[in-house]
Amino acid sequence: MWPNNRFIKLCGIELPIIQAPMAGSALSDMVVAVSQAGGLGSLACALLSVENARKELESIRRRTSRPINANFFCHQPPREDHAREINWRERLDAYYIQLQVDSNTSIPQSARPPFDEQMCDLVMEFHPEVVSFHFGLPDKNLLLRIRKSGAKILSSATSVDEARWLEDQGCDAIIAQGFEAGGHRGMFLTEDVSTQVGTMALVPQVVDAVKVPVIAAGGIADARGILAAFALGAAAVQIGTAYLRCPEAQISPLYRQALKDAKDNETAITNVFTGRPARAILNRFIREVGPMSDLAPEFPLAAATLAPLRAKSELAGSADFTSLWSGQSARLSRELPAADLTKQLAAEALKNLTLLQTKA
Ligand SMILES: Cc1cc2nc3c(=O)[nH]c(=O)nc-3n(C[C@H](O)[C@H](O)[C@H](O)COP(=O)(O)O)c2cc1C
Repeated sequence: MWPNNRFIKLCGIELPIIQAPMAGSALSDMVVAVSQAGGLGSLACALLSVENARKELESIRRRTSRPINANFFCHQPPREDHAREINWRERLDAYYIQLQVDSNTSIPQSARPPFDEQMCDLVMEFHPEVVSFHFGLPDKNLLLRIRKSGAKILSSATSVDEARWLEDQGCDAIIAQGFEAGGHRGMFLTEDVSTQVGTMALVPQVVDAVKVPVIAAGGIADARGILAAFALGAAAVQIGTAYLRCPEAQISPLYRQALKDAKDNETAITNVFTGRPARAILNRFIREVGPMSDLAPEFPLAAATLAPLRAKSELAGSADFTSLWSGQSARLSRELPAADLTKQLAAEALKNLTLLQTKA
């Protein structure tokens, strides 16, 4: 049926569609809907406390017995750099004044610790069938524990070098994340954004370089993209932005509207929201301070100084300071419940595949 069923078999799922983990935007409702529909629902844990991650996993396990993916960030914790923090605060001073945000407002600590023992304990407790990582892999002992739990291990690669590295560390499948992708670049062997590769070029080169199944991610939002991914040798797709339009996505009306309106050339890779390169819909903050700034403190510290500005501006109905993560294909997405979207994408891709085969 599907031209390549290696990933479906690996994970015991019906459809080769992974709903991308989306920290801050999708929780258990989305995961359950996608997994119940036959795809692989993903719970992004990067912004969740251990307590909240447990609640979400409990809720998921109560509502579906289908395979699920738990996803974690495994970045290096930032080095302390007070001078840089102060420079960043000074760069944002004018906005504090303009928005009348009290300069003594306490700045929240950024709650994005990398994957650690406690989160690993949670994996042991809930046994997600798949565990995926962004920004490389955690240390060997943690990885070993996950492997022993029986979970299949995935991580994102943005180059052939990263894909080979992940395969060497024992990943069961590689997510080839093209430049079009929404959210953070998973890049971990380079910091050079200017050389990042598009999905069309990246996927076949990764397929040629590794033996494990490859999942295509970045700019895929309809059946044509899925078909193209399979033509390039992928065994599955990971779709993020298109799922943000589903009612299950936990995003603000402002964000929802921005996704509805976003054109193909209205996103950019920027580090000004968190300190790490990520693709978002253009807004005032990216235009004026970015898109890339040497001043932004290391991930995830940049986010904290921005938080009071974002809160004040959102209260006034503006997304000027909000990170509107999105890939380049937002306008291809449709407003549908996540289960319907998953089933429709798969059915349309299979139908188009049959048509292509008949024509050939
Ligand atoms: C709002 C948003 C949040 C994201 N958060 C995560 C995350 O927590 N973990 C992760 O591995 N990838 C994350 N990503 C990246 C996705 O895994 C994937 O690479 C990307 O969505 C694919 O491109 P697309 O958005 O064009 O479909 C995020 C993407 C978006 C759009």
